[in-house]
Amino acid sequence: MTNRTFTIIKPNAVAAGNTGKILDMILNAGFKIRALKMVFMSRNEATRFYAIHQGKPFFADLVEFMTSGPVIVGILEKENAVAALRELVGNTDPAKAAEGTIRRMFADSLTRNAIHASDSDENAQQEWSQFFKPKEIMVADYCL
Ligand code: CMP
Repeated sequence: MTNRTFTIIKPNAVAAGNTGKILDMILNAGFKIRALKMVFMSRNEATRFYAIHQGKPFFADLVEFMTSGPVIVGILEKENAVAALRELVGNTDPAKAAEGTIRRMFADSLTRNAIHASDSDENAQQEWSQFFKPKEIMVADYCL
């Protein structure tokens, strides 16, 4: 188990102006932000990021949505980070997400579900490596 995970605040949440509120919830839950940036993903980048879902019925819509506007990508640190962020984010389907979770509050649908949270330590590292170089990851408590 590592103490870092990876997140993407998705295009619907960014476009609706909810980035600040979501980052506030993340910080209030005790995460430290070790890296953060705004990215407009290309089709190639989104296809690579979601390669595991290629061939599934929702894949084309997912790539279309993830390339429809800018996203915020970040590396978050907290004890047991992967599980802690998934709890804060809530069920993939906002209709099933618990009260007070990010998806319950900001998701529009299963695809437009406001935020991504890595599902394992291994995937977290692989996912953030697509967006951050090692020198872009802060090791001390500089910020936010
Ligand atoms: P995310 O956590 O980013 O990981 C994969 C994404 O695919 C997921 O959030 C949803 O946005 C989307 N997704 C997963 N399952 C479905 C589904 N059954 N129908 C539509 N979209 C889905």
